[in-house]
Amino acid sequence: MSPSFDEFAEHLQEEIDQDVIRIYGEKVYERWRNPKFAGRMESPTGYGRVTGNCGDTMEVFLYLEGKTVSDASFTTDGCGGSAICASVACELSIGKEPEQVADVTGEMILQVLGGLPEDDQHCAFLAAETLQAALGDCMCRYTDTQPQKS
Ligand code: FES
Repeated sequence: MSPSFDEFAEHLQEEIDQDVIRIYGEKVYERWRNPKFAGRMESPTGYGRVTGNCGDTMEVFLYLEGKTVSDASFTTDGCGGSAICASVACELSIGKEPEQVADVTGEMILQVLGGLPEDDQHCAFLAAETLQAALGDCMCRYTDTQPQKS
């Protein structure tokens, strides 16, 4: 008896999952299956949008409450790697002060993921650049609301 379509699809998914784990590792696989922080934010206090050399565009939204980033989210029209890296960038910023967020780099994102294949590493740098653009916007807005010294 031949397998049902559902059995075939399940088997195919298992093969894909195993390939992703083999090529990218467990940490990337987990993030790929559960891309936390995906989606637009209604009223961010900081917004960054960057198009990378690969042509993919990423957006990062930050919400600064007092001196701490209380929320972050992202969108991307790019590859799976871009979503995974943007998700890590958001995670690394939540609960942090702006000075700490300013220290988030592409290398740091790659480190959290246990590395990426060379062809995908630029996704981490695009995520870091977009996060920094959002942080810059946050800081500009913050400065604009402060009383001017005379
Ligand atoms: Fe463009 Fe991944 S290929 S961000």
